[in-house]
Order: sequence, then C-alpha cells, then structure tokens
Amino acid sequence: MSLDETSQKPHDRLAEWLADDMAAVNSLIRLRMASEHAPRIPEVTAHLVEAGGKRLRPMLTLAAARLCGYDGAHHISLAATVEFIHTATLLHDDVVDESERRRGRPTANLLWDNKSSVLVGDYLFARSFQLMVETGSLRVLDILANASATIAEGEVLQLTAAQDLRTNEDVYRQIVRGKTAALFSAATEAGGVIAGASDAEVAALFTYGDALGIAFQIVDDLLDYGGTDAAIGKNTGDDFRERKVTLPVIKAVAKADAEERAFWVRVIEKGQQAEGDLAHARSLMARHAAMEAARDEALAWAETARRALVALPDHPLRQMLDDLAGYVVARIA
Ligand code: IPE
Ligand code: IPE
Ligand code: MG
Ligand code: MG
Repeated sequence: MSLDETSQKPHDRLAEWLADDMAAVNSLIRLRMASEHAPRIPEVTAHLVEAGGKRLRPMLTLAAARLCGYDGAHHISLAATVEFIHTATLLHDDVVDESERRRGRPTANLLWDNKSSVLVGDYLFARSFQLMVETGSLRVLDILANASATIAEGEVLQLTAAQDLRTNEDVYRQIVRGKTAALFSAATEAGGVIAGASDAEVAALFTYGDALGIAFQIVDDLLDYGGTDAAIGKNTGDDFRERKVTLPVIKAVAKADAEERAFWVRVIEKGQQAEGDLAHARSLMARHAAMEAARDEALAWAETARRALVALPDHPLRQMLDDLAGYVVARIA
C-alpha cells in the first residue's frame, strides 16, 4: 500500500471505490430535491445538500448491495432515498435543537425560518417515499418505512428524556438506536435485500449498521463536549444548552458527589445555566473519566459491527466497512 493510500480515511476509500455509483446518487439527489412550483424548496435543499456532508448512509447502502453482488440499478434510488430521509431529519432536528450551525454553514432555520425547515423537511420525506417506490421492492419499503417511524420515535423519546437526570443508559441506548442507528441499519439491510442476499447476510448487515450507528452517535455526543466547532461543522455545547442527558453526562452524574449533583440538577433539570457552566461540566467529566468510559462503549459497539462482517462475502468492500467502523470511533481516539 502506498503512503497515500494509508493516509486516506476509510470513507474516502469507500467513496473512491463507489465513485461512479455515488456520482449517480448525487445527480439523482440534485434532480429530485428540486420543485417546479415552490422556489423555497430548492433554495433550502441546495443550501444543505451543496454543503456536502459525509454521505455515509448512502455509501453504506451502495457498499452493502455491491458487496452482495448486486449489478442492477435500484441501489442508486435506494441510496438517494436514504440520504433524503437523513436530510429531512437534519432539517427537523435543527429546528427541534435550535441549532445554528450544520455542515460548516448556518442552519436553514437560522437563514430562513423554522416553518421553511419543517415544511421542506416534510417535502424531502415525501420525495424519499417516491424514490423508494421506484425500487419496486415491498421489502425495501417495509424496512425504510419502519426506520422512518423509529427515527421519529427516537427523537420524541429524547425530547421527554432531556432535562431528566433519571435518564439511564438503557433509555439512552433506545434513543440513539432510534434516532440514529435505525437509518444506518436500514441503509445496510436494504442494500442487502435489493441484492437478493441470504437471510444470514441480511441479518449481518443489519447488525453491522445498528452497531455502527450506535457507535457513531456516542461519538457525536462526545464531540459535543470534546470536539471543536471547526472539526464537526456544528456548534459544540449544543447538547448541554439543550439539557440533553447524553452518555458522558450519565457517566458523570453516576459518580457525582452531593455538590456535583446539585450542579447537574441546576444546569440540566432547572436549566439555569451561566457563563462557565459548560467548562465546569467538562471538568466534572474529566474528574470521573466519563468521556473515556463513553468512548470505551463506542469502541465496543464498533467491535460488534466488525464482528458481524464475518458472515458477509469476502470482498474488498468488506475490509472497507471494517475500516469504517474503526474510523468512526477514531474521531475521538
Ligand atoms: C448527523 O449525521 C446526525 C447524526 C446522526 C449525528 P452526519 O454526521 O452523518 O451528518 P452529515 O450528513 O455528514 O452532515
Ligand atoms: C441526530 O441527532 C439524529 C437525527 C438527526 C435524527 P443530534 O441532534 O444528536 O445530531 P446533531 O448533533 O444535531 O447532528
Ligand atoms: Mg441536533
Ligand atoms: Mg437532536
């Protein structure tokens, strides 16, 4: 392997391997994000879509289909469907989280307004269903319709678990499995289904996507405290401000003494936050090695994802999916 190859990130290698397919997915996305009748739609979608994004989920779909020997054309609309669902949830999520930065740009809710974000998000959801129908597979429809319901469920569960310090790791896992992992697992599972993979292979693809998605969200939650705005293209500290009880918070609260607990009750439950509180939260996490403990869990999920791959065909893409699981957690290593 050349130096260049070793310095490439796993998703760059995946993108390179899948370049033709991804180009087709990107043109389909561009074609379908438009609207003849409502100019606000292409304005908002272009703002978000042209900012890039890692395109992880559509790549997972393409990789799963190709890995299982698919040589038809439906994987393109399937991958575009998955990215449309993702984009719709981001538009809605930034309204719900009152976020101001996404993909290194101001959010749509900030540039336009909440109404535009919600309605354009709805439009993209509807477009995703039109696209998935084009695959002609009821099984694929079933997987993606279920995932869409599960994502919404996860976001609503998070809404009620936020500001509540009784939120434990079981509830947290349920939230991340819903809001994030459901689309990862649907992306990989549907890719296998479209390729006519065996039940065992489809199950392995599901497990890989589920575990990868959970690891990915734990890392995202860690970066909200430990990352930088520039690196994540979003504002750090959003979760703290929104009083979300994410894994590093759960870990720190579990080890809190009386004084520390009073701090968490004030900032998370009562929402009385002042200058310096975020830094103090970070120092409490450091005192109790909460970030390290959460990182260990992300690593364990990445390992689960990797282990699932053994049931899949021996193929260069399988190694890339293995590397991707390592990369997702390496963002915080
Ligand atoms: C953001 O996902 C939403 C989460 C599940 C944390 P990504 O980090 O994959 O977003 P983009 O598409 O690359 O911007
Ligand atoms: C990600 O939620 C999941 C969805 C968008 C459904 P978050 O709120 O944790 O993700 P970011 O940090 O805004 O990307
Ligand atoms: Mg958010
Ligand atoms: Mg959110």
